[in-house]
Amino acid sequence: MSSSRLGRVLLLVCSAWLLTKSGAWVPRIRATSLGGWLVTEGWIKPSLFDDIPNNDLLDGTQLQFKSVTQNRYLVAEDGGGAGILTNRAQASGWETFKLWRINATTFHLRVFGNQLVGVDCAGRVVATATTPGPSETFQLVRRPGDKSRVRIRAPNGLFLQAKTRESVTADRREYTDWSDDDPSVFVTNSVKHLQGEYQLCNGYGTAKATQVLMDAYNAVRRHTSTAYVIMPARFSADAAELLGFVGSFPLAVLDVHYYNLFSSKFNGLTVDQNIDFVRKNRSSELAAITRQNGRPLTFVGEWTAEWNVKGAAKVDYQRFAKAQLDVYGQATFGWAYWMLKNVNNHWSMEWMIQNGYIKLNCSCSQSQNAMISLDPNCHGRMEASDNAEGEYYSSD
Ligand SMILES: *[C@@H]1O[C@H](CO)[C@@H](O)[C@H](O)[C@H]1NC(C)=O
Ligand SMILES: *[C@@H]1O[C@H](CO)[C@@H](O)[C@H](O)[C@H]1NC(C)=O
Ligand SMILES: *[C@@H]1O[C@H](CO)[C@@H](O)[C@H](O)[C@H]1NC(C)=O
Repeated sequence: MSSSRLGRVLLLVCSAWLLTKSGAWVPRIRATSLGGWLVTEGWIKPSLFDDIPNNDLLDGTQLQFKSVTQNRYLVAEDGGGAGILTNRAQASGWETFKLWRINATTFHLRVFGNQLVGVDCAGRVVATATTPGPSETFQLVRRPGDKSRVRIRAPNGLFLQAKTRESVTADRREYTDWSDDDPSVFVTNSVKHLQGEYQLCNGYGTAKATQVLMDAYNAVRRHTSTAYVIMPARFSADAAELLGFVGSFPLAVLDVHYYNLFSSKFNGLTVDQNIDFVRKNRSSELAAITRQNGRPLTFVGEWTAEWNVKGAAKVDYQRFAKAQLDVYGQATFGWAYWMLKNVNNHWSMEWMIQNGYIKLNCSCSQSQNAMISLDPNCHGRMEASDNAEGEYYSSD
């Protein structure tokens, strides 16, 4: 989300004003996008990722594993929901495992059908779990000097091995000579490699994240002492992780993004379960990072009234939006809807207001939440909040 948002930030290099026949001045713009400065993507600046340990095993990387003894690929039978076998001569979707990176060496492994690889009570390797737990946590151990040769350590401390083509078990001890005779040795093939903002934050961990935020904060303060500086919580970690750090800077804002989407835990939730989640779980998450002394201020910088509920009625959307307005209204800096205009109606705040799905309180001086009011009842004016003392960021 944020890269696409920042991707639209343009730097005006120069502009000439032309006089048209009708006598109006129109600008002719020469500009460049700020990609490479504000957009963190590996293809723009690969060196950003250089200092991450195991930076070829970032979150989202897709790997295939070929057993050296069986000369066959690991496969999630039926694409998931069943056992892991070692009987495929060719590798494609069912033979591809997606890394969910916990740290440089520890991962969850997702299969084609989105289930997670785990070890059952008989020590067999299966892909049946839909949410990760301790039995779905694996360590990748690489051969020194040959990164493509790996062993996979299961939560029980033992290594996975392919003793036959019809099963994989977690029962091989520590010793290996890394030879082609060791059934716990696999050769990896990387089929997809992601290098975005998430991978950067997840890969570097807290220490590097705080250093980058401090540099950015100081850069802003060299130009102004009154602007609010909005700092993102790392998507990959608990939002409270940076609370003390961000709170140590004057006029700093901790930015969190709340969606009832993008995670399998929302699949199949009913209207009421979604609303309950906002009113209970989300409100306690927000309360955990909101200090009434405003150090730091809190900002729900992205939310939407779209969800995974299929065929919901207008009144359901209204209740869902209202629950979010009530809860996110408690954030001490405020909130921002993702996004102003979108052809997908529920993602468009303009459409949601104009069609009566979202109702904001008109008086912006009573509500610190709305930076811009598009409510037609506010006489169609776009009005800025009169609470803004400093400068709000505006990236669109
Ligand atoms: C990685 O995470 C695992 C599981 O939480 C932990 O046991 C291990 O010590 C961590 N390793 C590093 C290098 O932080
Ligand atoms: C919400 O919180 C409750 C109580 O802590 C928990 O049992 C439940 O699993 C949470 N819901 C989701 C969807 O995470
Ligand atoms: C609007 O204001 C009323 C009265 O102050 C309050 O009860 C209500 O929750 C507010 N609605 C929103 C969406 O903030």
